Amino acid sequence: MKQTGLALGNWVGPVDICGMIHLDANATTPLLPEVLEAMLPWLRDGFANPSGAYAGAKRARKAIDEARGQVAEWIGAEPEEVIFTGGGTESVNTALHSLNRLTGSGAAVVSSIEHSAVLRYTETLDREMRLAPVGRDGRLDVAKFSGLLEGAAFVSIMTANNETGVIQPVREARDLAHAKGLPFHTDAIQAAGKIPLHVQELGADLLSISAHKFHGPKGIGALYVRKGLRFSPLLLGGGQEGGRRSGTENTAAIVGMGAAAAAMRRNFSDRSGEKLAAMRDAFEAKVLAEVSGVTANGSRENRLPNTSHLSFEGCEAAGLLILLDEAGIACSAGSACMTGKQKPSHVQLAMGISEKLAKSSLRISFSVLNTMEEAIAAASAVKRAVEKLRRIQGFGVGPVVVYSP
Ligand SMILES: Cc1ncc(COP(=O)(O)O)c(C=O)c1O
Repeated sequence: MKQTGLALGNWVGPVDICGMIHLDANATTPLLPEVLEAMLPWLRDGFANPSGAYAGAKRARKAIDEARGQVAEWIGAEPEEVIFTGGGTESVNTALHSLNRLTGSGAAVVSSIEHSAVLRYTETLDREMRLAPVGRDGRLDVAKFSGLLEGAAFVSIMTANNETGVIQPVREARDLAHAKGLPFHTDAIQAAGKIPLHVQELGADLLSISAHKFHGPKGIGALYVRKGLRFSPLLLGGGQEGGRRSGTENTAAIVGMGAAAAAMRRNFSDRSGEKLAAMRDAFEAKVLAEVSGVTANGSRENRLPNTSHLSFEGCEAAGLLILLDEAGIACSAGSACMTGKQKPSHVQLAMGISEKLAKSSLRISFSVLNTMEEAIAAASAVKRAVEKLRRIQGFGVGPVVVYSP
């Protein structure tokens, strides 16, 4: 959808999002215009290897250092605590690799709703993997989590879930882990840019973020490593990033991540969160009021302001996505990573949602570049798509169910 001037805060437009109403911000977000502007010179002529000894290389090194400062300032870290990585997955894998290498024997404790970047990597480790359960509201069951820490070696609990948007009790989990002397990583990839993020407040030893989730470029992420924490790199080679992540730096992407972080720091306030929530809530309220047989999943109080996760009785999500795509609405079934696979999402199953309903779920996620008009138009499109699919499938509609723990 062509946007002529953006409605939120100080964000600058216009932005054209592929001719669609893009409501899949948890999958990825468009570049902010100022991020693109910051990157262009580095794509055009700033190709020098930042490790070189000549002027162009030194300029690239300086740009990388500035971007590191921007990311650090945004998350409340020291610049030397920030390592650039090739995206969120690499950041998470690096954190888990380091924890695995440097801790003694014992289990890895992760939540059952982690992103596959955590789950698949942890499964490969030569140690026990303990899955901490969540409740029906999608939040970590802190008591049961606590019971898993005896004989553990390290912990990884995400800050907010990518499918439901449910914010996890990270500080409580960290306190319990630290009380047992266990290092703590948090995958903050979905939280970054949607709620204020401050590493000192969160108190994690390691924290992962990914630029494309907050209007930066893809394929660039960062890992915060608390000063003084022992660290073992995943990628070995030329010794870039102070020996902590080898590989020639992607100057343009790093500059883009820095610019996106600076934009978040400048423009993201509680008001931005309120505006995201206003769009999400208007969308959700209209769908719940006008469509029957809908379940709103996940904690009402503890969720990202931009995410709505809804199950539609009698509607396969795959069918809904096709109809919504035709209507110019881009959103996801459960999580983007699940799209195309027939398996219900592990997150919904962990929450006790039935397999059938899990396959009937949509994730609608807003970014600061969306508008209220888009939220309302999307709700109408969802209503039409659900009605059409149910007509085709001869579905008898049931009552509206709203889960609010
Ligand atoms: C919670 C979470 N962790 C990790 C990732 C992986 O990040 P990236 O796509 O940057 O590799 C994602 C991406 O969807 C995510 O949502």
